Amino acid sequence: MAYQNLLSEVKENILYVTINREKALNALNKETLSELADVIAYAEQSEDVSGVIITGAGEKAFVAGADIKEFSNYSGKQGEELARHGHETVFNAIENSSKLFIAAVNGFALGGGLELAMSCHIRIAAEHAKLGLPEVTLGLIPGYGGTQRLTQLVGKGKAIEMITTANMVTAAVAEQIGLVNYVVPQAELIGKAEEILNAVKQRAPLAVAAAIKAVIASLNGDNGYATEIEEFGKCFETADFKEGVSAFSEKRKPLFSGR
Ligand code: CAA
Repeated sequence: MAYQNLLSEVKENILYVTINREKALNALNKETLSELADVIAYAEQSEDVSGVIITGAGEKAFVAGADIKEFSNYSGKQGEELARHGHETVFNAIENSSKLFIAAVNGFALGGGLELAMSCHIRIAAEHAKLGLPEVTLGLIPGYGGTQRLTQLVGKGKAIEMITTANMVTAAVAEQIGLVNYVVPQAELIGKAEEILNAVKQRAPLAVAAAIKAVIASLNGDNGYATEIEEFGKCFETADFKEGVSAFSEKRKPLFSGR
């Protein structure tokens, strides 16, 4: 897959996506968002991809937000359309994906950048990373799901404090408040994400997808309990369930087929 603003490659069933606009601190312009939408759709339908790592080029920024230069003259209607389109094609598409997405936060994750990281299922930050939603400094609010996903991750009090002050938090604080799962030295960032995806790769893929679906259902006003019951039932119909139980009885490692 050749893109103008992304590097992407699949190695051992992991899709590596690097947002590659280092001079603009990897800010999300329209073209980058459209390429991200494309690569996310590819990940969802490709049998070669079991999980995705998203990171930013260089060591300074993961993503420093939506591209401010692009929307400086927007009307209210255009702003609303920008947010709606982004939600549907990128941010919700990641969260609702059946493949596990990990954000490897290699520096500033601000505005739309933190929103991108928060739409991923797991976040790992490098020690020097700084995270925040500074939109109110521009006379805006977060528009790519930040008000909702930050509240889900850190609770109402911390979310309102971070959004209204626009203050960034360090990686260490982000870990303390549950905004990131792990903080590691920059050199270990991708390795830590690979370690998690390689563990998930050993598990039954349909069960992994069902688990993600049920957890996400708890966050979106859907009936998460009903989703869990339905997905639990569906698992019994899979070849992987039969393989998992046989392997347990035979005291061997299961060999899952994803069916
Ligand atoms: N959009 C467009 N360009 C950006 C950008 C952004 N979000 N963030 C950084 N850049 C560009 C700068 O304009 C600069 O380009 P030039 O060299 O051509 O001037 C280059 O990246 C380097 O940035 P700085 O010179 O500012 O670097 P710094 O080290 O002094 O500061 C920073 C780093 C604190 C991250 C600072 O760049 C910054 O505050 N960036 C903006 C962060 C922000 O407000 N993000 C929210 C965007 S709005 C949004 O995301 C809305 C939404 O929810 C949908």
